[in-house]
Amino acid sequence: SPAPAVVTVTGAAGSIGYASVFRIAAGEMLGPDQPVALRLLELPQAIPAAVGTAMELDDGAFGLLKSVEVLDDPRKAFDGANFGLLIGARPRTKGMERADLLAANSSIFASQGEVINEVAADDIRVIVVGNPANTNAAVAAAHAPDVPAERFTALTRLDHNRAVAQLAHRANVDVGEISRVTIWGNHSATQYPDIFHARVGRRSGAEYAADREWLVDDFIPTVAKRGTAILEARGASSAASAANATIDHVRDWVLGTPTDEWTSAALSSTGAYGIPEGLVSSFPVRSVDGRWEIVEGLEINEFSRARIDASVAELQAERDAAFNR
Ligand code: NAI
Repeated sequence: SPAPAVVTVTGAAGSIGYASVFRIAAGEMLGPDQPVALRLLELPQAIPAAVGTAMELDDGAFGLLKSVEVLDDPRKAFDGANFGLLIGARPRTKGMERADLLAANSSIFASQGEVINEVAADDIRVIVVGNPANTNAAVAAAHAPDVPAERFTALTRLDHNRAVAQLAHRANVDVGEISRVTIWGNHSATQYPDIFHARVGRRSGAEYAADREWLVDDFIPTVAKRGTAILEARGASSAASAANATIDHVRDWVLGTPTDEWTSAALSSTGAYGIPEGLVSSFPVRSVDGRWEIVEGLEINEFSRARIDASVAELQAERDAAFNR
């Protein structure tokens, strides 16, 4: 069997980390033939909880799990890493301004980017989950000049999956019959879930989008505000669905997206669709030979353009705040 893939999970003792690592150990992220070596990176105060998680991983007796290390030193945690799941972030606490949040996270992700640049494996692939995910990914990439920017991605797959599920409910079809949905822009309330190009069984997403009242007053806000709705219902933020989306993202990146379909991920813009280069924005993407490619050439109508532009403007403002700290 191949050498174990080194998977570094930051914030591993947190809710999403906890919901991710067992599925990674079970082979759901990298496939049933790929052994894994897990590195759980945590802040010193959460090391005991991470040790407990490592004990439970032991107790899973996972055939593919070759080792688990619990670490509070990023340099050790990312040494030789093939995958970085950057889940840990500074949460917004009471009285904290958005600018303070951006600054606090920008220093975490700048230093993790530097460490990744120095010690990770040459093929390192990074998915940033910790919020503000897009901007954190841009900051990490900017501090890792030797790693191609395209290897720093941010999670919008949860938003994508939410959009697919909502559209499936509306059309009364199975989620498997939905494809070509796109999340554009930022993983925030300004994100734009685009169904104009979607396939919905034998019908097109545009047919559903023609019902503007449903699109504007129901579908788009339901997807964009789903995180808040879950928080209110559960009394805790979405963790299992976020972990599931993170695993979907990495699995598709490594093993490929189905031919003729696409998914959504936030990638460093190449300038496609007029989105400024270097902004980490969500796009329609395909994974080909282990690399994400932006699906180009889609026709963007006025309705979509205005929404994409609004989310991109927010990304620019976040970037300015994060880089000028
Ligand atoms: P959590 O608070 O349960 O866990 C976060 C963990 O990260 C904590 O254990 C903390 O000790 C650790 N941590 C903080 N800074 C760290 C650092 N510098 N290095 C290593 N570990 C560090 O939070 P949860 O629910 O697991 O969420 C994690 C992040 O994911 C949050 O920023 C949240 O906003 C974000 N999120 C993103 C989503 C997306 O779709 N992109 C969806 C849901 C959540």
